[in-house]
Amino acid sequence: MTFNPLKEKGISLDKQLRSWDKVSGCPFKRELVDCYTRTRQILMNGIEIEGWNFKHNFLRMTDEPEIKKLVAQTRHIETTQQITVNWMSPPNQSVLDTTLGYEQVAVDLTAWLSQNEPDDYVKETYDFGLLEDFDHLYRYSQFAYLIEGTDPNEIVQYKTNVMFARPTQYHHNENFVRMRKAYDKDKASFQTKANILTLLAGEQQTHNFYAEHGFMYGSPDLKKLYAEICDVEEEHVTMYETLIDPNETPLEKLLLREFMEVCCYHNCYKDEVDPKIKLVWEEFLAMEIEHLQIAAKLLEKYEKKDAEEVIGTEVYDTCHFESQKEYVNKVILDEVDKRLDGKPEMGYCKIDELDENWPSYKAQKDTCKTGAPSEGSIRMSVVSINSDVMSADNVILKDREKLLERSLEDKYKAPNTVMPDEYASFSKEELFK
Ligand SMILES: [Fe+2]
Ligand SMILES: [Fe+2]
Ligand SMILES: [Fe+2]
Ligand SMILES: [Fe+2]
Repeated sequence: MTFNPLKEKGISLDKQLRSWDKVSGCPFKRELVDCYTRTRQILMNGIEIEGWNFKHNFLRMTDEPEIKKLVAQTRHIETTQQITVNWMSPPNQSVLDTTLGYEQVAVDLTAWLSQNEPDDYVKETYDFGLLEDFDHLYRYSQFAYLIEGTDPNEIVQYKTNVMFARPTQYHHNENFVRMRKAYDKDKASFQTKANILTLLAGEQQTHNFYAEHGFMYGSPDLKKLYAEICDVEEEHVTMYETLIDPNETPLEKLLLREFMEVCCYHNCYKDEVDPKIKLVWEEFLAMEIEHLQIAAKLLEKYEKKDAEEVIGTEVYDTCHFESQKEYVNKVILDEVDKRLDGKPEMGYCKIDELDENWPSYKAQKDTCKTGAPSEGSIRMSVVSINSDVMSADNVILKDREKLLERSLEDKYKAPNTVMPDEYASFSKEELFK
């Protein structure tokens, strides 16, 4: 039987405020938690922040008293949910540990959504972003090992490979080059809308996390890496938010956000392996059903529009996590040399098709003129351990020098770029076996 969130029974709004002991909750154990429980927790924190933030902006732009009141009331719930979810993180999980978790979310979520995306252009955009977050995981893993002695598999648990893809120095663009074509709200599938909003919320929170935590390490090299990757996450936010039709009305946008929350909590509840955390997802799902139905009533009353026209009558698995190594390996092999074309059609091309005047060359030269921190991270590992920190399948490892060669641009390289012949000279001993 399909789950129609517009017909299910939720928790009434007057029963949704919880006591502080419930709100502040209880953390999972860093050493015992399943990596995909952690990715759900990281993603749902981002989803709640998006809901809370959107509602503040909405409230500042509407003067209808009934809408203002209901948005304020449900927003109060979003912020308490956000605290409960975010504070599931244990105090002994370091900022770098959590960072590896954020990039695992980005890689495995984007791969999942890409394979469950009906719109080909949106799918292509997911595959493009996917390779960049994959590369971030590799760059951060160098510091996780060098500074904290952490094998990245303590966090990703061998479910996600740790290797380079499209090198981070090439993720820097003129921000307008990142802009994508928006879907048409009357033609796009409900699943496309829910997928994009989910990923957008995750990427936005990734940006915020790096911006707010990058300074917490003394290492200037690591701080530079956080600054560099934070800026790429800003580009990812631009990339995904511009896929959304800006002509959706504020009430449609409100409904879609509640719908995304319902889809995600429904999916989390189905998948969760930790029984205590499963109860939280179940309770929050019931809260979100109520939020959704409130938003549906507002849409009906103020815009005379039926919610089913905007979100349909079923939920989608917008945040399912499982190992995506095989899919990601294929995208790496196919697309490591792909770039944003910078043309009015907002498409993609291969490196050798880029124009001399491609606007992103200036952004890359300006930001990396003293070296790309992401390249520096590998040089630091080589100085310390005569190797990079990596853990990947042979499919992408076997010809990695050739793969690196394909990913580099002739027209521009950061001055500290690690070249394929240097890679070839690294120790091939497995660090973590
Ligand atoms: Fe929420
Ligand atoms: Fe990333
Ligand atoms: Fe990202
Ligand atoms: Fe909500």
